Amino acid sequence: MGGYMATAKTVEWATPQWRVDEWVEELGKPFTFDPCATPENAKAAEFLTEDDDGLKSPWWGRVWLNPPYGSGLKDWMVKANEELNSGRVEIIVALLPARTDTKWFHESVVERGHEVRFIKGRVRYGEGVSPAPFPSIYVVMRPKCEVSDCPTQGRVYRGMCEGCRRSSA
Ligand SMILES: C[S@@+](CC[C@H](N)C(=O)[O-])C[C@H]1O[C@@H](n2cnc3c(N)ncnc32)[C@H](O)[C@@H]1O
Repeated sequence: MGGYMATAKTVEWATPQWRVDEWVEELGKPFTFDPCATPENAKAAEFLTEDDDGLKSPWWGRVWLNPPYGSGLKDWMVKANEELNSGRVEIIVALLPARTDTKWFHESVVERGHEVRFIKGRVRYGEGVSPAPFPSIYVVMRPKCEVSDCPTQGRVYRGMCEGCRRSSA
């Protein structure tokens, strides 16, 4: 029983550390915040657990997001989009099941114009020796200025970057 559902820890669906490390290398900086974790599987120095409730607390900085994949997944994606608009979040990299026919995928990812990277092969979550029985994706979420001809795409707060806010004041 070394497989995908074999251990209690695997039920936590932890991200293999090397997948996070690959992103840290690409971004050139570590993640600062993991909104859904345990002390054992957190992927950033600051993190929130189920007791803290990452759906109800503010997020900040460079966020690693691998949320619970149950029916509440849509709520995590709504929260992620809200947090992007807070002015506190620089980027969110989310590891998600590739449920490309779902309402959450269309409303929180496609219609928001977020970058999607399809993962080749299956992720071995947690301590599972076997790969997950479903495909996975990365969704890269960056705050976007909603001004249509925005020249800068700088730090965004409530839908507008600093430059566009100054020129519209
Ligand atoms: C898929 S695991 C990912 C763990 C870790 N962030 C990683 O990437 O390896 C999801 C985690 O969310 C935690 N969790 C569940 N509900 C939560 C909540 N409301 N707020 C914060 N964390 C929660 C679970 O305990 C679990 O550790």
